[in-house]
Amino acid sequence: MYQNDLLLKAARGEKNKHIPVWLMRQAGRVLPEYRFTRSKAKNFIEFVKNPDLAAEVTIQPVEILKVDAAIIFSDILVIPESMGLPYSMQEEKGPYFPKFIQHEQDIQHLRIAQTEDYVYVLNAIQLAKKQLQNRVPLIGFSGAPWTLFAYMTEGKGSKTFSTAKKWLYARPDLSHQILQKITNSIIHYLKDQIQAGADIVQLFDSWAGVLNKDLYNRFCIPYLKQICDAITEVPVIIFPKDGHFALESVQQLSCNVVSLDWTIEPSTAIHLLKGKCLQGNADPCLLYADDKTIEQETIKMLQAFSSVPYIANLGHGLYPDINKEKVKLFVDIVHSFERSNV
Ligand code: CP3
Repeated sequence: MYQNDLLLKAARGEKNKHIPVWLMRQAGRVLPEYRFTRSKAKNFIEFVKNPDLAAEVTIQPVEILKVDAAIIFSDILVIPESMGLPYSMQEEKGPYFPKFIQHEQDIQHLRIAQTEDYVYVLNAIQLAKKQLQNRVPLIGFSGAPWTLFAYMTEGKGSKTFSTAKKWLYARPDLSHQILQKITNSIIHYLKDQIQAGADIVQLFDSWAGVLNKDLYNRFCIPYLKQICDAITEVPVIIFPKDGHFALESVQQLSCNVVSLDWTIEPSTAIHLLKGKCLQGNADPCLLYADDKTIEQETIKMLQAFSSVPYIANLGHGLYPDINKEKVKLFVDIVHSFERSNV
């Protein structure tokens, strides 16, 4: 069905001679082409809501970087907005919600996201699929329930997310109500993305790392389980960033792929995540190094994951000031690597 379906094969558990690669935030400010397209929109949100522009930047990394998958250009904050909490994106500062969940009565006002709330994402997926012409698969995504809860109760980015965690400790009952509403919205959203053409979906749990094993098992795993059990149409990737303590529980879920940040040793992850395809886990800052160092470290990573189904990626998104040529080099190194044990 695809000219290149290495990513879907790996996600389904195949080990092939060639390793697929894509990069989180590959559609982003590292590409001058992205910055040019972005300048046509009034602001970030208008950009996300314009299916023509969103599809255009979704395709760019496939053509420019030669990655083995496209990821739909959008943002995890589409769901909070769809549930009744609009946001703005402040230059250099990140997201800001003028209204966020502060009181018990705010929970009743939260809507379950409906197709018409985020139809622009579905239109962008359909356009991107058309333009991809089956060259590579398209990744759909959502924030994971806890990470969306974190933004919806904090109202902005944070280093500690202590306001969000206060809900978990002080009002666990209400926290579960909020997480359930978010989960229902995510399931609806991902099913719509799949129907529009997404071939695989990733759940970004970017703030897993501020929790611990007990909180993760109580407030994340039950909701991730509902999502994994509901999404049977395509493979599911979970990215519990900085959540080493989460990996044993994530292994029990029916997700196909677990994405890893750079703070975990590949051998530890392989041991904890038997039966899963692994994705990651280069430090994005490696791409500030000289070419020789990038080559040595990337090959070391590819070799470390050589015993399992594997998708090469970074351990988090590309930073805007990384040189595009270094990103290309990373992709080329993965493509010229051949596994000897298959
Ligand atoms: O290429 C891709 O990976 C697809 C597009 C994508 C974006 N955001 C575009 C974006 C994806 C998958 C996301 C996910 C996302 N958004 C996450 C999870 C991944 C992670 O980084 O942990 C989170 C936490 C967000 C929320 C968010 N969006 C923040 C905190 C920010 C500001 C920080 C920043 O990088 O500027 C954004 C903005 C954003 N989302 C940009 C892009 C390309 C940069 C804005 C711009 O172009 O001006």
